[in-house]
Amino acid sequence: MEATIRIRRFNPEKDKKPYWATYTLKDCEPTNRLLELLHRIKWEIDGTLTLRRSCAQGICGSDAMRINGRNRLACKVLLQEFGENPKIQVEPILGLPVIKDLVVDMEPFFAHYRAVMPYLVNETPPPIGPDGKPRERLQSIEARERFDDTTKCILCAACTTSCPSFWANGDYVGPAAIVQAHRFIFDDRDQLLQERLDVLADPDGVWRCRTIYNCTPACPRGIEVTRAIGEVKRAIQAGKRDY
Ligand code: SF4
Ligand code: F3S
Ligand code: FES
Repeated sequence: MEATIRIRRFNPEKDKKPYWATYTLKDCEPTNRLLELLHRIKWEIDGTLTLRRSCAQGICGSDAMRINGRNRLACKVLLQEFGENPKIQVEPILGLPVIKDLVVDMEPFFAHYRAVMPYLVNETPPPIGPDGKPRERLQSIEARERFDDTTKCILCAACTTSCPSFWANGDYVGPAAIVQAHRFIFDDRDQLLQERLDVLADPDGVWRCRTIYNCTPACPRGIEVTRAIGEVKRAIQAGKRDY
């Protein structure tokens, strides 16, 4: 089959503004992934096309892009979902500065990620095992289950860059950072609860979420992002994790 791919291109070193370029690829298979087609364009037609990718398996989160108006991972999109003669439009994710073509500057995104302190803090010495050596901090199955969903995040930014509140104000910490915060707020081994809630109670924290719900369907890991944000809001209001 023949596929038509329309890509928003921009090289700030030589283009005054972004433009659309259209590429036609013959001999495509329904089971081709969009990432493979972008590779063919880069390797067979125009080597200057710039994109990020690594694993090609939906794990690394580096190839989030706007595909026919929806944020998705190019490596998880099969050609067959676009019909007989697929026409696919590809743009960089929105709300972050474009470095070149489909590559955006992720630094503002990772600054928000760092702001929520995405690591476990526990100053109590770890338990000692029968061999006299420190051992892991055990946790009940129920306690681990409490934040299981938010451990699945791969930091692809598909949620944050689909959020109109983030488009309107890049200072909003964004759904991905809240998902990461949720993972530690609801971990009963963590001792930084109040500091975490204070960060997210900031005017640029969770209250900038207006429950628009673009983030949840954008998540390639199926995380219930809006629900996690709602749980963090309730924890802030209650001042504790068991509200
Ligand atoms: Fe990506 Fe989902 Fe994590 Fe958002 S919550 S960064 S969409 S994996
Ligand atoms: Fe944005 Fe998701 Fe809230 S799209 S407004 S973070 S529910
Ligand atoms: Fe790693 Fe797509 S290339 S998630």
